[in-house]
Formats: sequence, C-alpha cells, structure tokens
Amino acid sequence: MNPLVLGIESTCDETGVALVEGTDLLVDVTASSMDEHARFGGIVPEVASRAHLEAFLPTLEQALDRAGRTLSEVDAIAVAAGPGLVGSLTVGNAAAKALALALDRPLYGVNHVIGHAVVDELVHGEFPDRVMSLVVSGGHTSLLLIEGSAVTVRELGHTLDDAAGEAFDKVGRLLGLPYPGGPHIDRLAREGDPTAIPFPRALTAPKFKATHAYDFSFSGLKTAVARWVEAEQDAGREIPVADVAASFADAVADVLMMKTLDACREHGVETLVIGGGFSANSQLRDMATTRGEAAGIDVRIPPIRYCTDNGAMIAALGSAVMRNGGVASDLGIGVDSSMPL
Ligand code: KG4
Ligand code: ZN
Repeated sequence: MNPLVLGIESTCDETGVALVEGTDLLVDVTASSMDEHARFGGIVPEVASRAHLEAFLPTLEQALDRAGRTLSEVDAIAVAAGPGLVGSLTVGNAAAKALALALDRPLYGVNHVIGHAVVDELVHGEFPDRVMSLVVSGGHTSLLLIEGSAVTVRELGHTLDDAAGEAFDKVGRLLGLPYPGGPHIDRLAREGDPTAIPFPRALTAPKFKATHAYDFSFSGLKTAVARWVEAEQDAGREIPVADVAASFADAVADVLMMKTLDACREHGVETLVIGGGFSANSQLRDMATTRGEAAGIDVRIPPIRYCTDNGAMIAALGSAVMRNGGVASDLGIGVDSSMPL
C-alpha cells in the first residue's frame, strides 16, 4: 500500500491542501486570496500571509472531510518549503511541522517549482526515468532535467529577470488590460497576426550558447513592446492591440520552445512536461504540441487546474520522493524564499 501523503502549499496567494496515495489524487482543496490583491495590481505579501492563516484550518478540514479520511490515517506530511514569499511560506510550514510533530509522522520539505512538474504524475502516470520539464508561471520560468523520478533534479536554466507570466502581466498593464493581464493577452492574441511585429528573441544569438544556452530573459522584450507602442502613439496611429498581443505572445512561446526542445535534443530526453500557471497559454500549448510532435517528443501538459498553485503538486512530489527513497526533512528546517533546486 502506498503511503497517504498530505500536501500543503502556501508559497504565494493560494492555500492548498491535498491527499495523494501513490499517484492517485484523493482530494485537492484550494483557497485563494487573489481577489484581495487584484485592486493593488499585484500580490501584497502581508495580505497573503494573513489570508493563509485564516484559510489553513478550514481548507484542511474540507480536504479531510471530502476524502472521508481522518488525520490519524495520514502517513506523511509534504510542504512547499520554497521558493516563495517568506511570510506565506512560514504559515504553511509552521502548520506542516505542527501536524508532523502532533501525529508523529515524517515531514518532507519540498521545492514548489519541482512540484509544478511532478503533479503531472497524478494525471498521466509515473514519469519515465528521464524527463525534461519547463515550469512557467507568474513567478518562475525554469528548465529542469528530472532523473530517477524526482529525486535528482538539475536546473538547466531559468529566467534572468521576469518570469513569462510576469512579462505578460506587465505588457497587459501597458496595454491597459486588467490584472493579471496574461489571460487577456492570450485572448487578444488569438485574433491578431503573430508575424505583424518582429519583437526580439532574447538570449538566442549564437554568442549566448556557452553562457546562457537555457536561460531566458523577458524584460528586454517587455521594453521593446513599450517602445513600439510609444512610437506608434507619438506618430498619432491607433495601436493594433491584437497584433501587438499576438506578436508578443509568439516571441515568448518561440523562445521557450526553442530552448526547451534544444535541451531535449542535447540531453537525449524524449518526454517533456510543461507545468505552472502560464502553461494555460494557447500560443505556448499550440507551439509545444506541433513542434514537440515534429521532434518526436512526447509532450505532457496537465489540465490547467493542476498547473496553478495547489496542494496536489506538493503531495505528488512528497509521494514521489518517498517512493524513490528520498529522505525526510528535519523538523528544524527553515523556509527558503529563493530555494535552489
Ligand atoms: O502559476 P500561477 O497561477 O501563479 C504563480 O505565478 O505562481 O501563474 C499565473 C501567471 C500569471 O502571470 C498569469 O497572467 C499567467 O500565469 N497566465 C497566463 C495565462 N493564464 C495565466 N499568461 C498567458 N496566457 C494565459 N492563458
Ligand atoms: Zn507556482
């Protein structure tokens, strides 16, 4: 029998609690404080921490109730120990440690970014021995090589500035769209011409091959969009918003897929998992499907409800770590806002 793992997520604005047995998801409950942040145009850390404190116990009770399980049946506790907002992480980790101590069960402090990849095991089954994963959201853009089912993870590259979703949100702001702008740009982009404006593809020139082969940069692209829009406004022309959105979205998806598929080829990996809230993006999904197929790569993208922050990804990772002989954490572990992989 696989152990029953309770997963706790509190890295940003979502309080997530889930129960996983092996790769079976029994329940996944999420409370979000996003509505409280929207009017500020971004996450307010103090507000997020307080919301976690208020949401944790009701979320836990709801999860146990829905699964028809009791706390005494839980075999292990997994918690996202980073990266994320320190105050938010502290609430989830304090709760996880209290439960581990009170129930006398092992605690697994895991990395949230890896959770975004491993959650796919709950949908498409256990990973093969080697998997490439592109994790893209409002907070992260990382390329991971996962070997030995989530126990050995190597980060091949990450964004040097903005995350992909963050770049979408910033471009959304400059186009006057509501926060978060990502889904609005996606919708507009579907009506525009992706070849209308040749926006730059950062860090793809041959000179970056040795130093930044798998790193990303989106702040220059955001500036290029701002400059282009300003120049059009100065010239008294109307902004073709759908074309700007489509050309920008195409530039982001193109760089993400170019580098990801290069990494698959270089490392001889045939399975690609795309995770994180930005994997909802239509341009990225379309490009991943067509280019992945052409390259003979099996592209796995979990349904969007598993791509945003939730407890299931943390429980899935805790479960994978346990199945593959990972060691439990000390109860004295701290949270790490910039937790390395
Ligand atoms: O993973 P997530 O829910 O939250 C964290 O960042 O942790 O990701 C949300 C990010 C936001 O930046 C949002 O604008 C972006 O993903 N996003 C999208 C789409 N859906 C969400 N960006 C582009 N196209 C979308 N369809
Ligand atoms: Zn996340």
